[in-house]
Amino acid sequence: GRDLLSLADLSTAEIRELLHLAAEMKAGKVNYRCDRVLGLLFYKASTRTRVSFSVAMYQLGGQVIDLNVDSTQVSRGEPLADTARVLDRYLDVLAIRTFDHQDLQTFADYAAIPIINALTDLEHPCQILADLLTIQEAFGDVSGLTLTYLGDGNNVAHSLLLGCALMGMNINVATPKGYQPDAKIVAQAKAIAGDRTQVIITDDPKMAVKDAAVLYTDVWASMGQENLADARIPIFQPYQINDELLELANTEAIVLHCLPAHREEEITDSVMEGKQSRVWDQAENRMHAQKALLASLLGST
Ligand code: CP
Repeated sequence: GRDLLSLADLSTAEIRELLHLAAEMKAGKVNYRCDRVLGLLFYKASTRTRVSFSVAMYQLGGQVIDLNVDSTQVSRGEPLADTARVLDRYLDVLAIRTFDHQDLQTFADYAAIPIINALTDLEHPCQILADLLTIQEAFGDVSGLTLTYLGDGNNVAHSLLLGCALMGMNINVATPKGYQPDAKIVAQAKAIAGDRTQVIITDDPKMAVKDAAVLYTDVWASMGQENLADARIPIFQPYQINDELLELANTEAIVLHCLPAHREEEITDSVMEGKQSRVWDQAENRMHAQKALLASLLGST
């Protein structure tokens, strides 16, 4: 089956089509039916991804099985390759949230049904589909815009790099030294961008936000790194999205955060609740974007 493991599994045209379908679905212009079963196999906590995928599937007329890993035999050591081949016989599509991206790849290798990356240590493609929909809502066409990501060069930064390059957007990633995004993903984004758009990795947050239409941040310590959170605060402080930094961006700039947010760490309460913030629309758009994704992977029934 067709999988979504990396945002780069989609072409520019396919992302455009998904965003178009998501916008039509959100506006109630299409009534898509997909009477299938989605499994959610999650190794980590989730509010948005779990609920938005579930509601998206219910709205399509499908059903959802929420598989907490602890209540499966995976937690007692059943090999992933075996689990994949069994779930493949029951489900029509499986979204997985795990740590090691290779585990996701194993599922994709052994299951014929579509496997969706619901977040790994390497990427978070479903989040970026919702982000692009939110940017499209604010500005119309996304191409030619500059997005500035501030903070940790994590899975969200990786998928943003690929997403911006694919959509003809410039991307500036500002991180402290030692926290840059994965060099392979940066090279991949640069290869996709060619000489059409810029991919800039810097440690200078003020330079990075100049001319930005979108300011984006995420937690400074990802799930599994909680014990490092306190030590990271002083290192990441210059990359906080606050009113002072926001003033340096375009006056029309919007602010995104994939959530959950740590107020007064990566983003101030003032910016989060301010008029340039689009974080709640962004969270809502997870549902619309994933509904379009499920419809496109599964077809109409
Ligand atoms: N943004 C995001 O993936 O949220 P959850 O961790 O709540 O799913």
